[in-house]
Amino acid sequence: MTEETITETLPPIRHWPALDLSGVDFDPVLTELMREGPLTRIQLPDGEGWAWLVTRYEDVRMVTDDPRFSREAVMDREVTRLAPHFVPDRGAVGLLDPPDHTRLRRSIDAAFTAKGLERIRETSRRMLDELVDELLQDGPPTDLCATVLSPFPIAVICELMGVPAADRHGMHTWTELILSSSHDTQVSEKAKNEMGAYFADLIALREGSTGEDVTSLLGAAVGRGEVTPQEAASLAVLLQIGGDAVTNNSGQMFYILLTRPDLAERLRSEPEIRPQAIDELLRYIPHRTAVGLSRIAMEDVGVRGVLIRAGDAIYVSYLSANRDPDVFPYPETIDFSRSPNPHVSFGLGPHRCPGDMLARLENELLVDALLDRVPGLKLAVPPNEVPFRKGALIRGPEALPVTW
Ligand code: HEM
Repeated sequence: MTEETITETLPPIRHWPALDLSGVDFDPVLTELMREGPLTRIQLPDGEGWAWLVTRYEDVRMVTDDPRFSREAVMDREVTRLAPHFVPDRGAVGLLDPPDHTRLRRSIDAAFTAKGLERIRETSRRMLDELVDELLQDGPPTDLCATVLSPFPIAVICELMGVPAADRHGMHTWTELILSSSHDTQVSEKAKNEMGAYFADLIALREGSTGEDVTSLLGAAVGRGEVTPQEAASLAVLLQIGGDAVTNNSGQMFYILLTRPDLAERLRSEPEIRPQAIDELLRYIPHRTAVGLSRIAMEDVGVRGVLIRAGDAIYVSYLSANRDPDVFPYPETIDFSRSPNPHVSFGLGPHRCPGDMLARLENELLVDALLDRVPGLKLAVPPNEVPFRKGALIRGPEALPVTW
């Protein structure tokens, strides 16, 4: 029980438009909201009404860890949100609460641990080397997104999922159709259904399997009756397309390194600091537009002295938590020596990203390969001419024109 006084005064509702920001600019509306208070109220472009927004590190930790805030309850509401296509299907892992959420996540955990990832490290390095070989063979200039940052994470996630090499091209096409904002929702729905049907067949073939890839783990879980075939296929689709987050995030990472040669130079001359430096870049990168999925308060809860009523919708911002000066001194500075660095770029609580170690592994391989094998790598256009994605939930460059 806390002794603090709970206030019921409601702050004004702030409209938060979806901004198409360039480079790694921090969202100016979020900066305002952080200034306005630890708890504010927001209205996003789609959905209905308003929702609470929590921006401080400790409060984000509290809300994401507190079972009184439900993800499942979001399904029955038209919560104010960034975009219409933002509500995943019922039963999707992002919108489940324990015990169903725990049951689903447990079925695939082993593939995403350090030990599970060791299995694919060497193959991933080899696949990346082949892409960089091609890049060097074809010569400059090139679009780093098209030649490396997009195909590499898809190849790696296919390897982890256990998708046979012959089917990888199809996965690439489906992923692009599902995530592209330039098609209408029917096109992406069709691609999602096709990918779902593909995984349903693959998982059925692996029922009772003892393999270590994700579809084998799911097949085994279905065989034991712990997960339904439908749950397994839908989780497989989310994990497969989740791999795309690395494309955009590493696009932002290389945009920073190519526009800050001092940082790239340090990584070249002090390779031992790379894992720590990558973590600092992950903290700094504004991964997404606005906020992700909300939660619903299932009973009255006090957050930093403010009463959140049962039924209220609430968002947390991991981006703002990563810039909380109480936890990260000089948060606007990229400091490769920052320690400790408990950033929350992969979220917190039960919904924390399962792909965090995978993303770190891919980033380390990318930094090693591109900085060491392409020493003169630089932007082929001025920084303000690098095109950035528009209308996207996850931010990143549309293309990264480079030369060397
Ligand atoms: C740098 C890359 C990545 C970043 C910054 C990132 C970030 C995040 C964040 C912030 C969350 C939300 C936590 C929440 O709901 O509170 C999340 C969830 C998720 N991510 Fe990632 N992610 C990345 C890469 C990946 C990869 C490679 C995969 C695929 C394996 C993946 C799959 C997922 C899934 C399935 C969820 C939903 C988890 C759940 O609700 O239980 N992500 N990610």
